[in-house]
Amino acid sequence: MINIAIFASGSGSNAQKIAEHFQGSSDIRVSLILTNNPTAFVLERAEKLDIPSHIFNRETFYKSTDVVDVLKNNNIDFVVLAGFMWLVPGYLVEAYPNKIVNIHPALLPKFGGKGMYGDHVHNAVKQAGVKETGITIHYVNEHYDEGNIIFQSKCEVVENDTPQTIAEKVHALEYQHYPNVIEEVILKSLKNS
Ligand code: GAR
Repeated sequence: MINIAIFASGSGSNAQKIAEHFQGSSDIRVSLILTNNPTAFVLERAEKLDIPSHIFNRETFYKSTDVVDVLKNNNIDFVVLAGFMWLVPGYLVEAYPNKIVNIHPALLPKFGGKGMYGDHVHNAVKQAGVKETGITIHYVNEHYDEGNIIFQSKCEVVENDTPQTIAEKVHALEYQHYPNVIEEVILKSLKNS
């Protein structure tokens, strides 16, 4: 059994879709959900999905390696960031080389980097007046949104779109693709190991 841990900071709708995607699988499962935010709605989703959760704070995350101990104690093989808003520290990247993926709600390298998360991204897309946006799934390194790109998918931005309608289109793409891409990446990494 391959065990996935999901890191999420807020609503966790992607975390839920990913967990549900693997519910029928006998090879891969989401077995832990971690958050930096004790009031994140993802914790309620985790409880409903019957998945254990773990909350950590800034001090623990950046000044100790306790989170890696939690992952190892839970036999986690693969880490998925789904709406996780903190920079991943180097020790965590080193503990899971090429085994941490993130989804970004725009077409990187555009609209990425520090401060570019969630609705900030959709506001910036609207303000820039670009004709398309989308999603980027990428490996995680110690820099915001800079790891190698695995997958991108686009959607149109029309004049009447608001940041909110853009967010809805992007979320739809996320739900459609992220669980499948995670599965492909895991199966590929198994073949190569
Ligand atoms: C998603 O759109 C995800 O791409 C984005 O946060 C949202 C979380 O929604 N992530 C980032 O902006 C990371 N830089 P969710 O909590 O409902 O899954």
